[in-house]
Amino acid sequence: MEQKSSSVALVLFVCVCLCSFSWRTSEAQHTWQEAFKVLGISWNPNGTLNREIQIPMVDPTPYEDSTTPAPTALSQDIYLSPKSKAYIRLYIPLNPPKNKKLPLVIYLHGGDFVLFSASTVIFHNFCNDIASQFPAVVASVEYRLAPENRLPAAYDDALNAIFWARDQALGKGGRDPWMEYADFSKVFLLGSSAGANIVYHTALRALDFDIRPLQIKGLLLNQAYFGGLKNTQSEIRLKDDPYVALYVNHVLWSLALPPYLNRDHEFCNPISGGTYLGRVNRLPKVYIKGDFGDPLVDRSIQLAQFLYNNGVTIYYRFNAGGFHGIELQNTTAAQELYDDMKYFINNPFGTSHEGISDQPLYNDMKDIVNAEKTHASS
Ligand SMILES: *[C@@H]1O[C@H](CO)[C@@H](O)[C@H](O)[C@H]1NC(C)=O
Ligand SMILES: *[C@@H]1O[C@H](CO)[C@@H](O)[C@H](O)[C@H]1NC(C)=O
Repeated sequence: MEQKSSSVALVLFVCVCLCSFSWRTSEAQHTWQEAFKVLGISWNPNGTLNREIQIPMVDPTPYEDSTTPAPTALSQDIYLSPKSKAYIRLYIPLNPPKNKKLPLVIYLHGGDFVLFSASTVIFHNFCNDIASQFPAVVASVEYRLAPENRLPAAYDDALNAIFWARDQALGKGGRDPWMEYADFSKVFLLGSSAGANIVYHTALRALDFDIRPLQIKGLLLNQAYFGGLKNTQSEIRLKDDPYVALYVNHVLWSLALPPYLNRDHEFCNPISGGTYLGRVNRLPKVYIKGDFGDPLVDRSIQLAQFLYNNGVTIYYRFNAGGFHGIELQNTTAAQELYDDMKYFINNPFGTSHEGISDQPLYNDMKDIVNAEKTHASS
């Protein structure tokens, strides 16, 4: 816990210092060099990225170990092929129930497509929490990062993780003993920030494949990282945000997208058009969470509206205040998110829950937009 907060504090400290430096120079014209400083990245001579700000990475904890603070869940790394670096960090609760199988949650971490790993301590702790609290079997996907591997590489890796889970369900090549706890008919894809973008695109891609006996029952999108050529109101209002400033996002998208695509490509702006549009109505139910203090909130509202218009069942929560990544720093906000997600996973559609809405969406959406206006003018 201390390691977690001190590492986050370090990153925030560096970000805040660098951001305040860049604010002083020029309000309007930020350079990509400034964005690189904020992100703690620089180019290597061979064209790869040097990632200087490192949140610690931690090893999995496959056994209960008296020497460390007791983990709330067990974890192990499963390499997907001898040649690739791709792996799944698999979690089970410490004492899985004997009489009942658990939902399988496939998790995609955040980091703007460019940073971090499934082993990064903040995401490792997040997965421990959800495995023990839901409870669930959690498969956290180590996916390839940009710009060394631009999109759709991360989508491909996430899809491979789904194929791995399908093969586990079929028992191909032997099933990992921990996967005996998983209910393959209750699979959920969960992602935060860039991970939520990956979840959305991977779910649409998976519709083209025979993944039986897996059944993807829902998607959970926490503060999804999307963009577009035309800035939204929240992006403009919060353009100098310390976590996801507008100019930094623009640089990040230029690293994540293939060089010939712009921010209105569906990878970045999924409601703008593209090849996936016609499949959206085949998605399972979706949980969408946003915060009005996060510049990306309008993108989530737009997506929620778009999914709703396409007949997708959605649950959502948009909180006043907050900021991008709040659940990684504020344990109260984290617990609210866990409670929402647990509710979404364990309850069939048709019931409602304090704070999360499922019906009627249209009126609530107007309320959301009004709430945002109030927030913006206060
Ligand atoms: C590129 O350069 C970096 C830093 O010198 C090095 O760590 C990395 O292995 C190199 N990568 C390739 C693919 O050559
Ligand atoms: C943490 O989040 C909760 C709920 O979202 C909020 O009420 C509280 O003020 C936050 N605490 C801090 C220190 O920001």
